[in-house]
Amino acid sequence: MTLQNVYPWILRAQKEGWAVGAFNANTLEQVQAIVIAAQAEHAPAIIQVSRRALTYIGSDNEIQGLKYIAAIGKVAAESVTVPIALHLDHGTESEVLQAIALGFTSVMFDGDGLPFDKNLSITKRLCNTAHSLGICMEAEVGEVPKPDGKEYDESAIELTQPDEAAEFAKATDADTLAVALGSVHGLKAKTVSLDLDRLKEIRSRVTTPLVLHGSSGVSDKDIKQGVSMGLCKVNVATQLSQAFTGAVREVLRKNEELIDPRKYLVAARNAQIEIVRKRIRFLGASGKAK
Ligand code: G3H
Ligand code: 13P
Ligand code: ZN
Repeated sequence: MTLQNVYPWILRAQKEGWAVGAFNANTLEQVQAIVIAAQAEHAPAIIQVSRRALTYIGSDNEIQGLKYIAAIGKVAAESVTVPIALHLDHGTESEVLQAIALGFTSVMFDGDGLPFDKNLSITKRLCNTAHSLGICMEAEVGEVPKPDGKEYDESAIELTQPDEAAEFAKATDADTLAVALGSVHGLKAKTVSLDLDRLKEIRSRVTTPLVLHGSSGVSDKDIKQGVSMGLCKVNVATQLSQAFTGAVREVLRKNEELIDPRKYLVAARNAQIEIVRKRIRFLGASGKAK
């Protein structure tokens, strides 16, 4: 299938109480693993790339990274019969516009470091452009921190205020809204609990489908509960890298003489297929590509 706008699937997930998995990719093998897993599970899925992934893929040239991934994402989506979207994760205004121009079917503007009004006005402008071209637009209210292995102050996290979420959703017409419920990007263990009362309050005031970032560090119990309460796009990055890199480490540890990259990358790709399949099943998306 050609790359799809998965917004209709997200709406369906919201209505039926499951979530579309959005999986971060940094390498060709990770992209392949996502679509192979989605096909095996008969599930819609989202391939997403962060700014740092684009910089890596484009050898320090982000635009080159966008071009590469737009081409790879297109081929990957066309290799399967389930709906696949290509999403820009945590973009700036100019990255969002570039991604739209290069064929991404979904984009996120990350205004979490901006004052509320500025985040709102840029999001509104980008929504107009995205919608005129049939592109799904995600925005963020509140902050899901990206400590990148450094210390962070849990008490300083700006959780999403329900009244701000309501105002933002109404004013911007964003298709999906990332909300901060206490999760943190990049955690290697599932130690975080979500503020589910806050989710309930937001959900009672906002009909826009809600997105969970930083899912790798959240307890599965809370993710499950959050999905049943209206989180209908769930982002997964760190768990995938753990599986991918873990497999490489294991193969190289067993054979220190190995030099053929295909021999360890095939193990990494297979490990990632398994974890993506597990997360798709966990989110209740298995069999939904009908
Ligand atoms: O939100 C972004 C994902 O956690 C991936 O982040 O590619 O910057 O490591 P990264
Ligand atoms: P994790 O790295 O915690 O899985 O978060 C993924 C994410 O939110 C990507 O936007
Ligand atoms: Zn994120």
